[in-house]
Amino acid sequence: MKERIFLIGFMGSGKSTLGRHLARALNWEFIDLDDYFESKFRTTVPLFFKEFGETGFRDAERASLLDMKEKNKAVIAAGGGTPCFFDNMDFMNENGMTVYIKVSPEELATRLSASRTVRPLIQGKSNEELLDYIREKLAEREPFYNKARIVADGETLDLDDYLRVLEGAGIRGE
Ligand code: S3P
Repeated sequence: MKERIFLIGFMGSGKSTLGRHLARALNWEFIDLDDYFESKFRTTVPLFFKEFGETGFRDAERASLLDMKEKNKAVIAAGGGTPCFFDNMDFMNENGMTVYIKVSPEELATRLSASRTVRPLIQGKSNEELLDYIREKLAEREPFYNKARIVADGETLDLDDYLRVLEGAGIRGE
């Protein structure tokens, strides 16, 4: 049994918050892939983007993801774009239980409007541009996200619901 959960979904879908709660409930480790990236490369995601562009970022993000093979009993929050490059989605499906936290573009726009400065892909966008961007990007990304083993309604499920769904998929904590 692979004791790894990959949480995937758009920026602002709540991967890190849910991941922390799930990890605590299961008594597993929590890893935020962006934080792992930042300590591995001793930089920040926005700075790395500025210096190496999105292509450089995706290569380095892929390397960070492959490191997750070393982690057991871990809940891993992927970056919003992680599933959409290389065969990252296949890697996650082969090495853990994947959960797509599905949230509507409108709700994402509300949640993201406050965090535009730390997210390079949405920096400097007005509210209207942000919603358009999310709609377009989500349509492009959902075919990847939908390859997750579990698709969860991120607007209505609570922690106990997730734990029940995971238990149904054979995942139990310590
Ligand atoms: C990105 C999402 C970010 C981070 C980077 C790119 C994306 O992660 O990896 O800014 O392409 O959607 P979060 O989803 O944790 O914000």
